[in-house]
Amino acid sequence: MIGRKWRNILLILLSSLVNLYAGDFFKNDEIENRIDLLLSKMTLKEKVGQLNQVSGTNKDTDEQIRNGRIGSFLNVVGAAETNRLQRIAVEESRLGIPIIFGLDVIHGYRTIFPIPLASACTWDPELIKRAEQVAAKEAAVSGIHWTFSPMVDIARDPRWGRIAEGHGEDPFLGSVYAKAKVEGFQGKDLSDPKTIVSCPKHFVAYGAAEAGRDYNSVDMSVKMLREIYLPPFKAALDAGAGTFMAAFNDLNGVPASANHFTLTDILRHEWDFRGFVVSDWTSILELLSHGIAGTPEEAGIKALKAGVDMDMMSFIYVDRLINLVKKGELSEKLIDEAVRRVLRIKYYLGLFDHPYMDETLKKEILLNKEHLELARDVARKSIVLLKNENQLLPLKKEIKRLAVIGPLADSKSDMLGTWHCQGRSEEVTTVLKAIQSKLPKVKIKYVKGCAIQDNSKKEFDKAVRETKKADATVLVVGEAEFMSGEAASRTELALPGVQLALVKELIKTGKPVIVVLMNGRPLTIPWIADNASAILEAWFLGTQSGPAIADVLFGDFNPSAKLAISFPRNVGQIPIYYNHKNTGRPPGEEKFTSKYLDAPVTPLYTFGFGLSYTNFEYRDLTLKTEKINKSGDLIATVKVKNVGDYDGDEVVQLYIKDLVASMSRPVKELKGFKKIHLSAGEEKNVVLKVKASDLGFYDHQSNYFVEPGMFKLFVGSNSVDGLSTNFEIIEK
Ligand code: NOJ
Repeated sequence: MIGRKWRNILLILLSSLVNLYAGDFFKNDEIENRIDLLLSKMTLKEKVGQLNQVSGTNKDTDEQIRNGRIGSFLNVVGAAETNRLQRIAVEESRLGIPIIFGLDVIHGYRTIFPIPLASACTWDPELIKRAEQVAAKEAAVSGIHWTFSPMVDIARDPRWGRIAEGHGEDPFLGSVYAKAKVEGFQGKDLSDPKTIVSCPKHFVAYGAAEAGRDYNSVDMSVKMLREIYLPPFKAALDAGAGTFMAAFNDLNGVPASANHFTLTDILRHEWDFRGFVVSDWTSILELLSHGIAGTPEEAGIKALKAGVDMDMMSFIYVDRLINLVKKGELSEKLIDEAVRRVLRIKYYLGLFDHPYMDETLKKEILLNKEHLELARDVARKSIVLLKNENQLLPLKKEIKRLAVIGPLADSKSDMLGTWHCQGRSEEVTTVLKAIQSKLPKVKIKYVKGCAIQDNSKKEFDKAVRETKKADATVLVVGEAEFMSGEAASRTELALPGVQLALVKELIKTGKPVIVVLMNGRPLTIPWIADNASAILEAWFLGTQSGPAIADVLFGDFNPSAKLAISFPRNVGQIPIYYNHKNTGRPPGEEKFTSKYLDAPVTPLYTFGFGLSYTNFEYRDLTLKTEKINKSGDLIATVKVKNVGDYDGDEVVQLYIKDLVASMSRPVKELKGFKKIHLSAGEEKNVVLKVKASDLGFYDHQSNYFVEPGMFKLFVGSNSVDGLSTNFEIIEK
């Protein structure tokens, strides 16, 4: 074994090599020279103007732009309006510096795709990349240059409403999507007018908000930060992300928007990030509420010094920094650095050379046929089949009479989900409408049954009557759109209102009832899991919700999605995630083991779980070699066979466990996966490759190392089931 000292030296060398690669983004002498020249002409007032981001417009806006007081807008859309404002900046301000227009393009611009938590269940990064290309194109032709996306916060607490905006609980899967989304938004060239710059957020650890309460504090070890919460940000950076957003939460006592350790030590120095950091909405001013600044001036100094370059809506940089420089309390050099970073991204976007967007393009681009088709495809690939007893699904198209019931069956606005940007509810096709158009000959009876939230059971009888008369019932229940997303934490995760009572009444009829769930987070549905015959987790699927769900219900699409997040049985189990530690007393029969008296420790549905209309059998897991040196690759092969009657897609998942290490390691960690297509009866050899260098972990001093020793490998269709074998990592 090499000593710790040599190991560290080696690691530093390795990581600087990686940084060299990562740092290749945004390095261009010509652009730096242009920035030097421009900076040399700017007054201090014009400089702080570049650091100021404003939401929307008012009667003073034009004049402020003319005076160089605004560097960026958010929430201004439409190329006609952005061009108008841009013209003032470029043609009427002293230096003609273009504005960068930002917006929350979270899951589509006008064509709305599934919420991120849903599309994370596709396990299909190429597809998601294409979805973001579409979102970027639609946003770009509407005058937008910059999206506050992807949200790459790992979240293990479904009480937190913003879990809907991210990719679930796993750092590996989260990193795969972070990369795909950045590449999708940004394309190969930011100056291409159909691409936009991305903004991974919220840096960092916002997803760990205590008790799932939004904006709440986070206290965690640096080890945890590095192993779980930072990796998706690093993946986004390595993919070339041009901006980052600082989070609201405090991390170990230091608010993220004043956190020098995360923003400067890690992001800028260790990772060599050369883009700019924007604050979150008023998060600089909020340093006062956090109690780490007594005045707005102090807040401004702390945020700027920590590494926040642009101030979103606190107006502290634009209003206070000049005086601070004049009084000698702040160095102008620090402001110059922030301005340089903002200008750099504006140059890379090509805004100095092509500041305006062609206003005619939106007609052919927004909501066009290909975009809708892709949205439908992503939507159906996001639907997770949780239960399908006696092959109740798919339903036969030849049925005579169908009941469609539930407060979400025909609710256009809810299906768009949180942060639906410019999506319009009138452009949504609901489940009811989609089934009606798919099956024009079937008698379809719709009953709302109840509201999402209130307590009236007035329509229960009618719903029961229709269920009894029908050959099958599609019952669509869940959360309202506003119940997830920002500032939408919940302490109860059961179906709101009297919906569960409605589900019970209908299932009691003994007739076939398919429960379709729409929600922005895992809900606690133990009764439904035990008693319903078929359950589809449909999340909020966007503009094409209905057609996608109808495709799955009637067998035009065989579900293939796998959960990106564990479903707890009850709120008391939270936080619950598959990659936990074993403890010294793993749950068992005996009393003094780590468990609950009143519920199992296992989730209701585990990470990676999802059924298909067909079945897949795994056999013959083999390794190329059972001893792998630290710089080598683990290469596993497994045979997967479709043993059912339907063609289908399967996500072959690879997990590892470090059996004995110097620190406790998780019981399982996802390290690879492959989505494959198998026709009925077909068998394929699936090869999965993992770098041994990715099987390490951090100590509390932020050193990363791969320890030699025995590991277990698991390959299967979710984080619980599958084949396993052992392998060993050796020094060399
Ligand atoms: C606050 C949210 O936390 C952030 O995600 C979003 O991008 C900004 N508001 C701007 O809308």
